[in-house]
Amino acid sequence: MTERLAYICRHIPRARVFADIGCDHGYCTQYVLERGLCERAYVSDVSAECLEKAKTLLQNEIAAGRCIPVCADGLEGIPEAADCVLCAGLGGEEMVRILSLRPLPEHFVLQPMKNTEKVRRFLVARGAKLELDVTFPEGKQCYDLLVGRGTGGDVYSEHEYRYGRDNLKSPGRAFYDRVLRDVNRTRGALARVKNAIQREALLARLAELEGIQDAIEERL
Ligand SMILES: C[S@@+](CC[C@H](N)C(=O)[O-])C[C@H]1O[C@@H](n2cnc3c(N)ncnc32)[C@H](O)[C@@H]1O
Repeated sequence: MTERLAYICRHIPRARVFADIGCDHGYCTQYVLERGLCERAYVSDVSAECLEKAKTLLQNEIAAGRCIPVCADGLEGIPEAADCVLCAGLGGEEMVRILSLRPLPEHFVLQPMKNTEKVRRFLVARGAKLELDVTFPEGKQCYDLLVGRGTGGDVYSEHEYRYGRDNLKSPGRAFYDRVLRDVNRTRGALARVKNAIQREALLARLAELEGIQDAIEERL
């Protein structure tokens, strides 16, 4: 299991019915079943070829009826409400599309590959409570993780939507590195762009990013 998957797995709560959407290899579900974190688990993937990997990995659990493989889009083929939904490694827009077709689950663990801001906005608008919203590292890469509940409600500031609440509250190295990278990218873009309106937008973004960079450095 990769560091990314291990980090995600450590944040999966106990549930009665667990669903791993976009399971591919099925490692996260293996982790959940091995630790008795759910009564039964669904592994779902839109690709039959990808699902086949999870079927092979989890063949004993499937034979015992503790794991049910489903080849379908999102939550479509799952015949009951899962009280914990994991969706990792998909784009944020795809996650929003998948989650918007059903009531939000009691617990969710989401690791979008991009467009995390859109996922945050969707969850808060739907009345979710985000318990963890953090950027974590794997080698030189970094990923976002959103863990929470489908009910409870939350209030997010514009900065929290854009950067992640726990990143702003207690910034870690992965978030700091991302801010530095974005500062450099924005400076690079400013050096190339001539259009006045685009430059204004880039300058505003740079000022925001440098403000966050300064705030982090004051804490370090
Ligand atoms: C990059 S893999 C991520 C696998 C694993 N969840 C992880 O984080 O390592 C994305 C998987 O999601 C599946 N997938 C993409 N869109 C999907 C959808 N709408 N419904 C179900 N599975 C989907 C793909 O077939 C692929 O197996």
